[in-house]
Amino acid sequence: MSNSPFQQEIAKRRTFAIISHPDAGKTTITEKLILLGQLIQVAGTVKGKKNDRAATSDWMSLEKERGISVTSSVMQFPYKDRVVNLLDTPGHEDFSEDTYRTLTAVDSALMIIDGAKGVEDRTIKLMNVCRLRDTPILSFVNKMDRDIRDPIELLDEVESVLGIAAAPINWPIGMGRDFKGVYNLYTDVIHVFQAGKGSVVAEDIQIKGLESDEAKALLDDEYNNYLEEIELVRGASHEFDLSAYLSGQLTPVYFGTALSNFGVREMLDGFVDWAPAPLNRATDQREVDAKEDAFAGFIFKIQANMDPKHRDRIAFMRVCSGTYRKGMKMRHVRIGKDIKIADAVSFLAGDRELLEEAVSGDIIGLHNHGTIQIGDTFTDGEELKFTGIPHFAPELFRRIRLRDPLKSKQLQKGLQQLSEEGSTQVFMPQRNTDLIVGAVGTLQFDVVAYRLKDEYKVEALYEPINVYTARWVDCDDPKKFEEFKRKCADNLAIDGGGHLTYLAPTRVNLSLTEERHPEVRFRATREH
Ligand code: G4P
Repeated sequence: MSNSPFQQEIAKRRTFAIISHPDAGKTTITEKLILLGQLIQVAGTVKGKKNDRAATSDWMSLEKERGISVTSSVMQFPYKDRVVNLLDTPGHEDFSEDTYRTLTAVDSALMIIDGAKGVEDRTIKLMNVCRLRDTPILSFVNKMDRDIRDPIELLDEVESVLGIAAAPINWPIGMGRDFKGVYNLYTDVIHVFQAGKGSVVAEDIQIKGLESDEAKALLDDEYNNYLEEIELVRGASHEFDLSAYLSGQLTPVYFGTALSNFGVREMLDGFVDWAPAPLNRATDQREVDAKEDAFAGFIFKIQANMDPKHRDRIAFMRVCSGTYRKGMKMRHVRIGKDIKIADAVSFLAGDRELLEEAVSGDIIGLHNHGTIQIGDTFTDGEELKFTGIPHFAPELFRRIRLRDPLKSKQLQKGLQQLSEEGSTQVFMPQRNTDLIVGAVGTLQFDVVAYRLKDEYKVEALYEPINVYTARWVDCDDPKKFEEFKRKCADNLAIDGGGHLTYLAPTRVNLSLTEERHPEVRFRATREH
């Protein structure tokens, strides 16, 4: 394989997301990663929690009120000779659709586990999503400065609950108040813990060799016990195996504390060495090689009003091959048009900057004036479409009614845009003029209501409605499909993307209808 400067540039990319349960330390670790990328002097400017959010967006006031994070962002930072792209994922469960789609745009993931709590719900769910694509996972057991659970028990839990082999790379020396550092099982080096250095990149104090006098002095009375523990760990745990990691079968595990910025550097060193460079991606036509010259990418997320000065919407694109160059023309495959992109933005450590160039693995932001939807493919002209970007059937429904009937145009427009962004799903029943919104979690309704009011000046009432779930329907036999449509007209609606949907009032109704119309497919997910 030739090794052109272009291919070397791609080989540097490491594009990943963090999966964790809320409060495990995702925000804290993100700050430290960026600090290690040396773009900011003091950590804490990524996403000020609760009161001091640095990220600006006026609809984030909703987040402020509730103290939760509902948006996700992208950050790029250099580390050693690599370029790291970190895609943040919303922590709140109600926004999991967004998270799932973000996971389609990464090449690997970092799993953070709160050492005191072990494997939690949300991590299990996210891990299941990663497994669909065998995404490589690196793990970080956080909060070693607290009294955590027995590390051996934690690794057992990772293996049994998440069904992935765990290979410790380093092993903690003590915990909580007695936390002394970590011992790297492969380099035979102890990295000594220093408290109170959380906001800086502290010097890496090393002790070479577990047999050394310094190691004995550090461990003191615990020395012999620790030697036994290490022997046990080596005997009982999996050894690191790069190919097993890359195929999603094994996770290397680091221990540390994000708050004290300790162990994060070792983890990042391992990450940039082992994590995959941009991977090839499937389309409906062929596999797109990340190292191809021809440009191609897909949209995995649309986000509104990140910059109050612009009040625009940004479509996040994962570049899958080729190079984006300022002012280039791209084919917007779904609408069959070539468009010139002069002002894509990059996400250098949280800042939006005008972008000159981007390659496979990078995320770029396109200004969206309503023509871009989640799942859209952009190419240098080739007719192809990236596959595997999911859309989930909502489980909660509300009927929307306007307080002021004269605002129906604004309401239509607002709902249309929010559904394009993936913030909600809209259904228009065939038999009446109701507007029904669907969501995966209740918090989504609050966001929709807030944004309709704030951005579109529409005040509406959200009434409960008797819908249990939605299924996208299709059928190979046109005659049978017509019969189905006639018989079930009362339950059919068109969604925001123009797809025919069956709205089932109850679970029983859904299974009966499925039984009565075996030739019709009822899908709980659809691809964009
Ligand atoms: P999240 O984004 O995954 O939800 O977690 P976040 O980083 O916000 O961390 C959740 C809480 O855990 C925060 O405390 C944070 O300071 C704390 N934390 C993170 N890493 C460590 C660690 O290594 N050791 C200890 N002891 N605590 C850690 P908080 O009080 O909820 O928030 P804040 O007011 O400090 O921001």
